[in-house]
Parts: sequence; structure tokens; C-alpha cells
Amino acid sequence: MTTFEALVERARALAAGGERAVLGITGAPGSGKTTLAEELVRALGSDAVAHVPMDGFHLADVELDRLGLRDRKGAPETFDALGYASLLRRIQEDEDDVVYAPGFERTLEQPIAGAIPVPRTARLVVTEGNYLLLVEPRWAKVRPLLTEVWYADLDRDERLRRLIERHIRFGKDETAAIDWATGTDERNATLIRATRDRADVIVPAELLCGIGTPPRRRSSGS
Ligand SMILES: Nc1ncnc2c1ncn2[C@@H]1O[C@H](COP(=O)(O)OP(=O)(O)OP(=O)(O)O)[C@@H](O)[C@H]1O
Ligand SMILES: [Mg+2]
Repeated sequence: MTTFEALVERARALAAGGERAVLGITGAPGSGKTTLAEELVRALGSDAVAHVPMDGFHLADVELDRLGLRDRKGAPETFDALGYASLLRRIQEDEDDVVYAPGFERTLEQPIAGAIPVPRTARLVVTEGNYLLLVEPRWAKVRPLLTEVWYADLDRDERLRRLIERHIRFGKDETAAIDWATGTDERNATLIRATRDRADVIVPAELLCGIGTPPRRRSSGS
């Protein structure tokens, strides 16, 4: 079975030649993509590795309202997919001393421009999000910009448990949390599950359960 140490070595090898490499991690909502990316960065050393979440390309609420998409937040059409591809292209071109990526603030549920510096020293960039392997035209521009893509394959029951817990931690009541996790999140999970076979590596549930920790209440979470 794949171990976390084996994944760390695989990630390290991607950038071993000195060329900048971009590792993508995808998987359904709550499958542990952010946690895996953070653990990889911790294991590889933060100078040489940067973490760029796709979540920074959420459209802001003001634009979702204008488009009438606020109740579908998190669906493929609620992100700036072309902006994400454009940032990945800039990272791959490796011409600037620093490339700034947007972050996503979970309490505000809004993207924040200029939140994440990707310095020249970062030869490996780990990017993670829902739609890295989607085939629809806008998202299809992303895969060619990634060196390889891993799929976080957490089982549905555990995923739902974690999602509901996180929705409650960030302010939803229990009914709203369950509705969102089994409605909007689940529709997105179905789209993402259909992209699983396009991944280079499947990261199994046992491995995902062995990293990260259950969040403490009122921690900032991810
Ligand atoms: N080993 C673990 N045991 C229990 N909960 C965990 C564990 N690892 C991570 N979590 C929690 O599970 C939740 C989902 O993890 P994470 O944020 O990494 O998933 P994600 O795939 O990035 O989710 P999203 O698609 O919503 O961004 C988080 O609240 C995280 O703190
Ligand atoms: Mg995440």
C-alpha cells in the first residue's frame, strides 16, 4: 500500500531536476486535499515548496449575486477557472521573483487577493481543489499545466461526517449543515468522482485517515 513517506518522496522527485513542478491534488469536498497538501509542505520544507489552493479562485459573493449563483457556491461555474489556469501558467513560466496567489477565508467565505506568495525558491508548487480533472472546456485548461495529479479517495461516510462537522464549526446550524453537505456538496462530489480515473495516483482512505487530526472546536480549520 502507498505510505505517506512514499508520497513525500514521489513529490520530492517531481522537482528534483530543478525545473519547477506543479503537483495537483483533487478529490470530493471534505476528502482531505488541503490536509494532505499541508502535510506534504510540512514534510518537504516550506522554503522549497508552496501551497496554492484552487479555493482562492472562488468568485466573490458580490459577483455570485450578480450572476444569480450564490446558492450554488462551490459548483464549477462559481469559480474563475480561467484565472486559475492563468496563475498556474505564470507559475510554470517561472519568470517572476514572486507570484502572488489569492487565498480563501473560510469565516468570511470570500477570496482574498495577494494572500499567498510563491517565491522563486519554491521549485515544487502543490495546488489542490475540486475541479483539477474536469473535462468541461474552461477547466480542461488546468490539467496540462500540472505535472501530475493525485486523487484523495476518502469514503463517503467519513467525508460527510467531516463536512457536516466543519459546516457547523463555521456557523451553520445542524440542519443547514446536513442539507448543504448532502445537497450542494454532494452534487459536486458526483462530478469530481467521475474524474477519478484520470488521476495519476489514488491516495487511499487509510492513508488520509492517518494524517491530519480532527479539528478542535473554534480552531481556524481549513
Ligand atoms: N485525520 C483526520 N481525522 C478527522 N478529521 C480530519 C482529519 N484530517 C482532516 N480532518 C478534517 O476534515 C475536514 C476536511 O479536510 P480538508 O479540509 O483537508 O478537506 P478538503 O478536501 O480540502 O475539503 P474542501 O473540498 O472542502 O476544501 C477538515 O475540517 C479537517 O480539519
Ligand atoms: Mg480544502
